[in-house]
Amino acid sequence: MLTDAAVVILAAGQGTRMKSRLPKVLHRAGGKPLIRHSIDTAFQVAPVERVFVVVGYQAEKVEAETEPTGAGIIRQTVQAGTGHAVLSGRDQLEHLGGRLIVSVGDCPLIRTETLLALAELQLSSAAVATVITTEVANPTGYGRMIRNAAGSLAEIVEEKDCTPEQRAVREINSGIFCFNAELFWKHAGEIRANEKSGEYYLTDMVAIFIRAGLSVVPLKVADSNEVLGINNRVELAAADRIIRDRKIHQLLLDGVTIEKPETVTIDAQVQIGMDTIIGPFAQITGHSVVGENCRIGACSIIADSQLGDEVEVFPFSLITASQLDAKAHAGPFARIRMGAHLLEGAHVGNFVELKKTRMGKGSKSMHLAYLGDSTLGDKVNIGAGTITCNYDGHRKHQTFIGDGVFVGSNSTLVAPLEIESTAYIAAGSTVTHKVPAGSMAVGRSRQVNKEGWKRKPLTTAEATAETVLKP
Ligand code: UD1
Ligand code: CA
Repeated sequence: MLTDAAVVILAAGQGTRMKSRLPKVLHRAGGKPLIRHSIDTAFQVAPVERVFVVVGYQAEKVEAETEPTGAGIIRQTVQAGTGHAVLSGRDQLEHLGGRLIVSVGDCPLIRTETLLALAELQLSSAAVATVITTEVANPTGYGRMIRNAAGSLAEIVEEKDCTPEQRAVREINSGIFCFNAELFWKHAGEIRANEKSGEYYLTDMVAIFIRAGLSVVPLKVADSNEVLGINNRVELAAADRIIRDRKIHQLLLDGVTIEKPETVTIDAQVQIGMDTIIGPFAQITGHSVVGENCRIGACSIIADSQLGDEVEVFPFSLITASQLDAKAHAGPFARIRMGAHLLEGAHVGNFVELKKTRMGKGSKSMHLAYLGDSTLGDKVNIGAGTITCNYDGHRKHQTFIGDGVFVGSNSTLVAPLEIESTAYIAAGSTVTHKVPAGSMAVGRSRQVNKEGWKRKPLTTAEATAETVLKP
């Protein structure tokens, strides 16, 4: 953390090349909007109150993503280029002094250590500014680092303005700078509109400083992925892949087994405990936490959910915003959602859906059931085909099921309803009234056997007549 540094993140552009109605910086890589990557990294480098985001195109949407983080907002009313974007924040930034780091909202892979090294180099080299660069095989679309005969940086030239020789240069500008703030503001007004585009380029600061007898020093990074700028969805997909590969690599090193890792998707902020085994095509996203010794079956999706130790999720299950305590089982083909909670050792089997439902310790619903807005005690057994009718067409109603209740197969539990502990529901019942503790409820017509019954034979006319359906 550098207490004298401020970070300004440029994020006002539309991102035309994304071909999207959404601002570029709100597209997601590794499960997070691009802008959040930049903000999170900035917070590792400078104090929160010295981090700012420049917004412009669909400003409300980008602000809504930025504000909860605590970063400040700078408004750029017209998108007149990266230099203009920084100048839009003059009132908020100039008095901060110290070092001014200019970062961009479309470069999610840059590492904190690299930003710190950039700021460090600005001090140690006594250069007025430092800039992150890298060497790439295909520099298309990037500004080129043009060096003089002595090998030091002379200017940055945008691709559109390059001569053929300049275009062949493979060292490119990341768009990320660290300036001596005082000298930056002294000279920033010297940026002129680009002849071709009419935009004010931040990159022009290099030539401006050189003219003033000041030097700009590049910090060249070896891993060019770090400075991958996202301008289109091909680059977005590439960044997403890299972030996910980094995450999976780290999890493997931390003792998580991941089968066919190239098929598995795990968001950056997910936590997974040791000796957990993750099957092919699983997705674990958002703020999910998975304990130790769990098994996440193939093709299961776990989003924003908490799983304790030794939880087993069998293949093809979907678990969202829910909690599964230690030794709980779910699936295959289970759907658990909206704050559902399986307590220790609770089991949910195939084709069972749980919504806003708590299942007590050791309770089971193994086949084909819907349990919504329900609270189940411990050791409850829910038979196959049981449905809680929680919706009357207007409102949702609650179902309470006490400890040790046995609900027979194909029961229809009409909420609001209470079934007290150790009660027994006969299979096929429709239950509409409270069932007292220890009693059995039968809510269906009794079976009638008609002994010696024979089907009446059809007449010839009946047997040969065609059935005509009248409208
Ligand atoms: C920019 C650099 C280029 C560098 C590349 C790295 C300039 C002139 N060019 O080009 O040298 O190689 O980044 O990825 O700086 N923005 C604003 N307001 C504006 C214009 C842009 O806030 O008026 C923001 C964008 O939202 C984006 C960032 O600045 O986050 C960069 O803009 P972009 O249009 O992507 O610049 P590039 O053409 O990629
Ligand atoms: Ca860019």
